[in-house]
Amino acid sequence: MFQLSVVGCTAMIDWEHLITHAKEPALKRWIEKIRDNDDCLKSGERHGDLPRWRKVLDALPEPESALVDLSLSAPKSEFNQSEEEHLELRENLQGLHPWRKGPFDLGGVKIDTEWRSDFKWDRIEPHLHSLRDRQVLDVGSGNGYFCWRMAGAGASLALGVEPSLLFNLQFDACRKMLGQRAAHLLPLGIEAVPRDLYCFDTVLSMGVLYHRRDPLDHLKHLQQCLRPDGQLLLETLVVPGDVSTVLVPEGRYARMRNVWFLPSADALCRWLKRLGYREVTCLDINKTTVEEQRSTQWMRFESLPQCLQSDNTEFTVEALPAPRRAIISALAP
Ligand SMILES: C[S@@+](CC[C@H](N)C(=O)[O-])C[C@H]1O[C@@H](n2cnc3c(N)ncnc32)[C@H](O)[C@@H]1O
Repeated sequence: MFQLSVVGCTAMIDWEHLITHAKEPALKRWIEKIRDNDDCLKSGERHGDLPRWRKVLDALPEPESALVDLSLSAPKSEFNQSEEEHLELRENLQGLHPWRKGPFDLGGVKIDTEWRSDFKWDRIEPHLHSLRDRQVLDVGSGNGYFCWRMAGAGASLALGVEPSLLFNLQFDACRKMLGQRAAHLLPLGIEAVPRDLYCFDTVLSMGVLYHRRDPLDHLKHLQQCLRPDGQLLLETLVVPGDVSTVLVPEGRYARMRNVWFLPSADALCRWLKRLGYREVTCLDINKTTVEEQRSTQWMRFESLPQCLQSDNTEFTVEALPAPRRAIISALAP
């Protein structure tokens, strides 16, 4: 049995459990501060699609009992419903299109998202320091897929910050069916996170660094979120090259706007070391495949295949190196 408390902001935030799950006094104080002065949470209030999305959320079932398994590739909630209710659930979840991160299996509705985020989870999970009873911050968490997986791996708090309203509402939709867990999402950007928390055991920043105009400042900010010796797990786009290679695209990169710095993995490791991180290790470099990122019924827009040259998938349509992502682990000083 679980219940969500609805609050007067654009997303549904379960403050009571969030504050209970946050162990560190500094973190509790920050959360209480934003709860009590939630103007910063209302930025999406005038979004044109919000009334429609809210209707979808209201119509979703909140089962009294459900079999929940967060350890699966597709976090799953199984509960009793009629065939008609199942079809209605599917249609409502489609109302939160586009679903980019997943997959999920909610009441038998298999949400086949644009990204097979479980592939990424399988790459990072072996390198994460044990998550049992750990407090984790996931910066730019999308709809919170990794927060659910980290809660499933025993984290006592998996807190995501994500400015996109739709992704927050997708998280809320999942939460109605996956229930009250240690996973939480705040509709905020990293800018809203105080620079003196120094309390998380683990901080994830995946797919965010290349969107930052000042990547070194982003890395410093992540350090200021970590306790001493806490682990940073960084995942970002890199380009082939040596320690002095950094690509700043002239315009778009793989059709994405707002891409600033694509360093080589060696350059990125140098940045982290210069900022005082220890035990900086590049764990993996992976060329993104069209099996991992593609259009589906749940994300009907263009995807990776349309961003690559049709006759040479080593290059993007802008003739830049095709997306490769590095995973780097580093410890806070
Ligand atoms: C490429 S997605 C990565 C999502 C997820 N971390 C993953 O690895 O699959 C980048 C996410 O960062 C979010 N984002 C953009 N600006 C941000 C900011 N200032 N602070 C935190 N997140 C941000 C975007 O909305 C988006 O959901």
